[in-house]
Amino acid sequence: MTSTLRRIGVLTSGGDAPGLNAVLRAIVKTASIEYGWEVVGIESGFEGLLSPPHVRALGVAEVRGILPLGGTILGTTNRGRFGLVERDGELRRDPGAYEQLADNARALGIDALIVLGGDGSQGIASELATVGVRAIGVPKTIDNDLFGCDRTFGFDTALSVATEAIDRLHTTAASHDRVMVLEVMGRDAGWIALHAGIGGGADVILVPELPFSMDAVAAKVGDREGAGAKFSIVVVAEGANERGGPRFYQAATGTLGGIGHHVAAGIAERTGKDCRVVVLGHLQRGGSPTPYDRILATRYGAAAVRFLAEGRDGEVVVLQGAEVTTIPMRSCAGVVRAIPPDDEMVTTARGIGIAFGDEDVRTLDVDRAGAATATDPAATAAAGAEPGAGATAGAVLA
Ligand code: F6P
Repeated sequence: MTSTLRRIGVLTSGGDAPGLNAVLRAIVKTASIEYGWEVVGIESGFEGLLSPPHVRALGVAEVRGILPLGGTILGTTNRGRFGLVERDGELRRDPGAYEQLADNARALGIDALIVLGGDGSQGIASELATVGVRAIGVPKTIDNDLFGCDRTFGFDTALSVATEAIDRLHTTAASHDRVMVLEVMGRDAGWIALHAGIGGGADVILVPELPFSMDAVAAKVGDREGAGAKFSIVVVAEGANERGGPRFYQAATGTLGGIGHHVAAGIAERTGKDCRVVVLGHLQRGGSPTPYDRILATRYGAAAVRFLAEGRDGEVVVLQGAEVTTIPMRSCAGVVRAIPPDDEMVTTARGIGIAFGDEDVRTLDVDRAGAATATDPAATAAAGAEPGAGATAGAVLA
């Protein structure tokens, strides 16, 4: 089936990711050069189609030079009138917002929408059919955790920032015989921590999918110490969980953050090691996309236009293996692609001696370390450090 389209709208929704502008450029170029369509850029996500609409024409001239540019020229929001809100104990959407969006899209002559967003935004997009708006999605998250998609654009850039950070931490950790804890993004899935941890040669990787015990983490550090490696690198995803413990949130913003300090305090307390913490935060999301992300973003943008031209909607463009294809929007709305416990990369990491903190401590050679243990504060002091030295908990419990 093919369809006659003349004008399409495009919006970026949710947290930004390097490569958004590359997708926009590919959409505009493919739509205008290959199909002769007009493109309307909608500002600030879905909110830009509420009254009065905030839109602007996007032609080839408007997207010139934006391929390597981080962020999104359209702006984005990750909170607004389209999300689920709790009412009478149930999670619901505000139908008024969807009707207003549909009315404004029609008034602007928009025949279909391309939505660049993560699982939450694709959930919103999947509802648009109920108000007669055709939409196709492009997956966006640096976390690389969109269900049904092997790779989201932005992940490779975040990964290279995190890997470079680990490289840099290695030299200072080794110089001072310290434990360096690097907290990276990864709310519900630890793909950034896993890939960067392997790529940067971390000693411990902590991810939300594999709840950890502080004793196992400390045992790994102690084991290295005993083997003559006086420093260690720990990479922890912001959403990682200590077994039976809470998630950590920043007091000022209410967003995830603080697990790195908790882990450092736990290691310092158990081993007497001097620990430092680096929270990488939004450095992972900002700046220019890597060549890989620029190319993937371009393929996604072009494919979204081609699929619309074929008359398809209600689908999200994804990469499966080497192929760009689609999956139904509803199948990935609100669903996280978590790291399977038997993932080949987890197995590989374990095989080269990287710990995930879920090991049986008895299997780790702690005795060689001669390090203080959690249950022996006197030994901790004797090892030359105050419990918790070098790290502060500083976290607000969920
Ligand atoms: O979803 C991507 C992500 O980077 C998460 O890892 C992180 O928790 C979140 O965005 C933070 O987003 P913001 O600061 O925009 O709320």
